[in-house]
Amino acid sequence: MDKSIKAPLFAWRTVFWMDVQKPVRLSEVFRNRQGRLFYFPCVKTEGENRMNKMVQKVVIDCDPGIDDSLALMLALSMEEIQVEAITIVCGNSPVDMGFSNAKKILKYKGRLDIPIYVGADRPLKREYVNALDTHGADGLGESFLPEVPGYENSMTAQEFLKKRFAPGQGGEPCSVIALGPMTNLARLLSDCPEAILSMDRIVSMGGSFKSHGNCSPVAEYNYWADPDAAAFVYETADLYGKRIEMVGLDVTRQIVLTPDLLSYLKRLDPEQGSFVEAITKFYFDFHWKWEHLIGCVINDPLAVACFADSGLCRGFEAYTAVETEGISRGQTVVDSMGFYRKAPNALILTETDPERFFRLFYSRLLSCREEELDLIPGLAAGSRMTGPVLLDRAAVQGRTMDQTGAAVHNGEKSRESFAAGSEKQEAGADEK
Ligand code: BDR
Ligand code: CA
Repeated sequence: MDKSIKAPLFAWRTVFWMDVQKPVRLSEVFRNRQGRLFYFPCVKTEGENRMNKMVQKVVIDCDPGIDDSLALMLALSMEEIQVEAITIVCGNSPVDMGFSNAKKILKYKGRLDIPIYVGADRPLKREYVNALDTHGADGLGESFLPEVPGYENSMTAQEFLKKRFAPGQGGEPCSVIALGPMTNLARLLSDCPEAILSMDRIVSMGGSFKSHGNCSPVAEYNYWADPDAAAFVYETADLYGKRIEMVGLDVTRQIVLTPDLLSYLKRLDPEQGSFVEAITKFYFDFHWKWEHLIGCVINDPLAVACFADSGLCRGFEAYTAVETEGISRGQTVVDSMGFYRKAPNALILTETDPERFFRLFYSRLLSCREEELDLIPGLAAGSRMTGPVLLDRAAVQGRTMDQTGAAVHNGEKSRESFAAGSEKQEAGADEK
């Protein structure tokens, strides 16, 4: 490339990828005279500028789930994160199954000291649609690991969340990473909206900005499954001046666990590698069946990684709402141009670096230094595969996926119930 073109391009890239050490608000710089916001680079705020080495306390709200389980494994392996508790919501698996899967992961990681609280067994206002056709009959890739007995809890997830986050409860700052439908959080916030103020950071795997959805052309599963809950949480964030870090499909679709990456894991740590293989095999098959992708998109661990390493994902702040009705049910409406003139209630993450993710994932899981991974050149190559590229290829091959050619998260099931759900909504049914 011509040098005169290269230099400004390099400068531009550097500006976009620079690691801003002090909190800055570039939004003002990029406002035009009509007050419209333009797409601007990563805006880092105080929470994200903390030293990565500092331990961040967190409650993980999840619906395990294959990728939730990988996310838990990652979180439990990270010195940077202290998991205070796990709360379970119905999503990929019914809530009791999610509970037993969380126990299996804690047992595997030798962390049965971490409390687990069981939460909502159905969405706020509508029928529950699981994703077992994506995650297997046991919600854990049909690994059928032995049940872990015990763990009677005196509190529900909602009670625990209220105790931890209601104003005046004290305690050290604690964040929430939400890896499933946002029903538990919405229930907490409808009971005690100010609790949102005590949440240090709120990181949510869900939604999409420019990426196609995985439950409909525009909706991602977690927000599609309980759109009323997601909408309520975003509205509450708006009301209380909080900001949700949205780790949506734009970034998670870039995180593909390939057979090569899995092989490296097995070579480096046969025990953990085989465990990951056992729980992801079904997921690999699912992605092949629906997307002709050799590998599987592991969404949820990216949210955990992004929580610990705030430079891993980049994006922009914007006011964001979630649609609850009709064919756009679950869609995130991201006001990237500032049409509504509303203050941002979300940080929409749109860029990530898969190699950086996998280095973090491997180094923490394997308890080694990231530099040691330099000895494995295949790690970089293996992490370059992305979902959408292969999706296009699958479409070209004429596979019947869905009418839009988009990836379908839940296979036939979600589309059927989606259609059924839309009909019910049109008929004005309120299933509350
Ligand atoms: C999300 O849906 C679930 O299947 C995954 O666990 C992830 O949280 C991706 O759409
Ligand atoms: Ca999940």
